Parts: sequence; C-alpha cells; structure tokens
Amino acid sequence: MRNILITGGTGYIGSHTCLPLLKGGYKLTIIDSNVNSTPTSIERIKKILKNNFSENQISFFKGDIRDKPFLENIFSNAIKENNPVEAVIHFAGLKSVSESIEKPLLYWENNVFGSICLIDIMTKYECRNIVFSSSASIYGNTSFEPILETSEIKPCTPYGYTKVAIENILASIFKSSKNSWRIANLRYFNPIGAHESGFIGENPLDTPNNLFPIICRVANGKMNELQIFGKDWPTIDGTGIRDYIHIMDLADAHYAALEFLFRNKPQILNLNVGTGNGTSVLELVNKFMKVNKCNVPYRFTEKRLGDLPFIVANNTQVTSILKWKPKRNIEQMCIDGWKWQQKNSNGY
Ligand code: NAD
Ligand code: WQD
Repeated sequence: MRNILITGGTGYIGSHTCLPLLKGGYKLTIIDSNVNSTPTSIERIKKILKNNFSENQISFFKGDIRDKPFLENIFSNAIKENNPVEAVIHFAGLKSVSESIEKPLLYWENNVFGSICLIDIMTKYECRNIVFSSSASIYGNTSFEPILETSEIKPCTPYGYTKVAIENILASIFKSSKNSWRIANLRYFNPIGAHESGFIGENPLDTPNNLFPIICRVANGKMNELQIFGKDWPTIDGTGIRDYIHIMDLADAHYAALEFLFRNKPQILNLNVGTGNGTSVLELVNKFMKVNKCNVPYRFTEKRLGDLPFIVANNTQVTSILKWKPKRNIEQMCIDGWKWQQKNSNGY
C-alpha cells in the first residue's frame, strides 16, 4: 500500500478526501494540529467505510507542520516500517479571510512557514510528490468571464497572498531540483456540502463566515438570519456569483491529481477546481429552502469589504488533464450539507 501523508487531514476537505483514497487502497498517515478540527472525523470515516478498509490503512498523529522534529519522526518512522511516505496532500493551513486581515503574521507563519518546514523535510526524505490546497482567492478577478489558470494573480487578502507564496515556493523548488518534483496546485473555488451519509461535514470551531455554513445554521435556528452582502451587484439578481463545488467532487479531484502525478513525469500543474457554473447568493438560498423544505430568513446588508461580484472557474484544464468531472449539482450540495447539519447540529 502506497503511504500518503495527509496534512490537515481531520479538517473539512482533508477528511472527505480520505474516503476515495482509502477506497483506492492507499495507506494514509494523517497529521493535524486540530486547531480547527477534531480527530473524531477519522472515527466517522471508519464508520462510513464499515468493514471495507483495514485498520492499518489509517494512522493519525496530532502535531503541527511547523514542528520539524515532529515531521521528521513521521518520515523516518515510515522508512523504518518499510513504507516510506511517497506523496503528500497538503491541506494544513488557516483559511479565514477575515482573520487573516486581522492577524496577518499568524497566517504567514502558519501557512507559509509551515509549508516551508514541510517541503524541507520532504526534500530531506526524498519525497517529491505533492498536491497542494491552493485557492481561487489568489485571483483578482474583475471581469465576468470564467477564470483561467493564466488569469492575473492578484490576491486581495493576506490569506490569498499566503497561497500565492506557497505556490511560488513550490515553483522555485521545482526549478532548483532539476525537475524532479511532481506538484499539483489545486486552486479550489467554493467547496460546500458534505458526504452523502451526513457523518462527516464542515465543522468550523469558530463562528462561520462563509455563506453555506451560515445558511445551514440559520436553517436550523442556530443563527437568526442570513445577511446577504449587497443587492446591487451587476449580476442577474444583484447578489454575488460563485462557483460552488460539492465536497465529494473536490475529494475525487485530489484522488485524480495524485494518480496523475504518480503516472506521469515530474511536472508542476496549476489547476482550477470548480464546476464552471456560477450560482448567485439568492439562487443558492432559494434552492436550499426548496430542496430541504425549510426556511432561511435573510436580510440585505452592506457589501462586504473586498468582495467581488463574479468568481467562476474555467475548468477546461482540470477536466482534460485529470479526466475528472464534477458529478453533483447544487441540489445535491444543499441536500447533503443539510443532512450533515441536521445530524450534527453541534458539530462532531
Ligand atoms: P479546515 O480548517 O477544515 O482544515 C484545515 C486543517 O488544517 C484543520 O484540520 C486544521 O486543524 C489543520 N491545521 C491548520 N494549521 C495547521 C498546522 N500548522 N499544522 C497542522 N495542522 C494544521 O479547512 P478546509 O476547508 O478543509 O481547508 C483545507 C485547505 O484548503 C486549507 O489549506 C485551505 O486554505 C484550503 N482551501 C479551502 C477552501 C474552502 O473554501 N474550504 C478553499 C480554497 C482553499
Ligand atoms: C460567497 C458569497 C458573499 C457570507 C471565500 C474565500 C475563498 C475560499 C472560499 C478559502 C459572496 C456572500 C457570504 C454571508 C453573504 N476559501 N455572503 N453573506 O468569499 O467567495 O470565498 O471562501 O480559500 O478563498 O475568499 O466565499 O462563502 O464567504 O461568500 O452574502 O454571510 O456569499 O458576499 O458573494 P468567498 P463566501
């Protein structure tokens, strides 16, 4: 079984990605500081898989990627056990745009310095395959066209800058080591929803500030109302348009990226991972209420600082290179996300 290190593997995207990887027969070494997650997600993954995995396929170690001795132990123990880490899927990072504006140094330290520590130890142990969690927030899109990977890189928050910095570090490592690395920077658009079982899902430990978890909390009465930021954007109904992607489609994209890297020569890929379809805030809220037969009271408020009207992926690259396609529509995202919320109204 090929051993894959999953940093940030108990978090939202990491936990969902474990499923296709385990089904695909990989061994997973999961590390997480649990600054924004709990290891309970691993128990839930096992519950979903029932008997269709072996216990030695998953190990979890609590620790921080900035702790180099901790990382060294992971890599050296894997060698001692005759199962070296062959690739890393690097999810670990802080992801709140607003917190990054308040505490930029925390974001540079955690995300960028943490990634440097990881890449350093990977280099030392000759593990040169990495799938990295990048973000659509690196683009400074001001047009109404779907965004290409070659579009202007112009983040407007410290969070976005940390993603650009890590992509740049990976690009220089790639160049410096005579092209021995296999790197996939997956630039996610807006992942939402949950695994169809409702056993795992998004579990923000702090107050959420992304639209979908807020909709879920308003729907089950944990929050009073949704504030819709702006009603006069130049869009079909005046509200902001985003490219929402089902979390399990995003998980499958990681599986496809990893397999692609293993099958192909060293290279560096930058891929937009989105559906290519735009949905407005009002469309999402209305769809959520309709398919789930529930109520989401909302009120229009001022625009949020730094928001953009239209962020949708041109996903031609990812679909043609990885032979991956998103399969689940907005209805499914709403149904699965609501199922998770109802089954776990206080999180894990
Ligand atoms: P998440 O917070 O649920 O998961 C991130 C995990 O990383 C958490 O479990 C957290 O405890 C862990 N972590 C953070 N810093 C760490 C450190 N220094 N050492 C070890 N573990 C650490 O978030 P997510 O939504 O699953 O996001 C995963 C990755 O994808 C992040 O890098 C995020 O920036 C990126 N991303 C997320 C989105 C999104 O909308 N969710 C979009 C684009 C990119
Ligand atoms: C979506 C739409 C808001 C909350 C952010 C990051 C991005 C990625 C995903 C990590 C916008 C509107 C929101 C609310 C609202 N994360 N909205 N009321 O801003 O597209 O992307 O999360 O990498 O990098 O920037 O996502 O969910 O915050 O907003 O009206 O209470 O919902 O204005 O149009 P965003 P979001």
